[in-house]
Amino acid sequence: QSVADLTGKHVLVSAGGTREHLDPVRFLGNSSSGKQGYALARIAAARGAKVTLVAANSELPDPAGVQVVPVVSAQDLYDEITGRAADADAIVMAAAVADFRPADVVEHKIKKTADGAVPAVDLVQNPDILHTISHDRARPGQIIVGFAAETGDADHTVLDLGRAKLERKGCDLLVVNDVSGGKVFGSDLNEAVILDRAGTALPVPSGSKDALSGVIWNLVAAHWS
Ligand code: PMT
Repeated sequence: QSVADLTGKHVLVSAGGTREHLDPVRFLGNSSSGKQGYALARIAAARGAKVTLVAANSELPDPAGVQVVPVVSAQDLYDEITGRAADADAIVMAAAVADFRPADVVEHKIKKTADGAVPAVDLVQNPDILHTISHDRARPGQIIVGFAAETGDADHTVLDLGRAKLERKGCDLLVVNDVSGGKVFGSDLNEAVILDRAGTALPVPSGSKDALSGVIWNLVAAHWS
């Protein structure tokens, strides 16, 4: 799309995967590369939007014309997104966020002991950013888009799980990725279904993360027009 149809809008996008440190050198993380969120940011900027990209641990180069705010943990991401939400006409949460973090971060590297004892790691829950910003809208008319990384099981399809997540999180659109077998993470391609507020599946041709980003911005722009 070459039109500047997002001109005058400020969009806030999250990308990458959070890291929850156990000690100075070890963390709980995930294999998000940031490609999906960076594609969303790059394409929104090309369509005229002012773009802020809150990026968790991605090694991708900064997209041209985009303000990039680096973060490490889910709590950092929560602080940056909630702190900037009131300025955003749309927020897209493409980041893969850890639901849990270690209860304590040890100051020095955890070491093996002579008796072979294995340390136990207690986890505590992280704040749910998408749930918070969707249930407590910082700006009237704001559009909020979530992503869902799902693997179906014998009792639930990926879409069933997506619909339940849409209901819980309270966002306007949910992009449901089937990530079984680890697919989508790190790839240039995506295979997604987009659910609208009513849970209706909107058609998305399978293809690149750039193409999916274009479809997402078309839907957001349609809300505004
Ligand atoms: O980065 P890539 O390699 O390109 O891969 C893309 C992707 C697979 C990471 C991306 O497309 C994707 O699916 N992102 C969402 C991953 C995720 O965290 O899914 P979830 O189902 O656990 O979370 C649902 C939604 O809630 C997401 O929008 C997430 O950002 C948000 N969330 C989750 C937990 C939390 N504590 N706070 C949140 O805001």
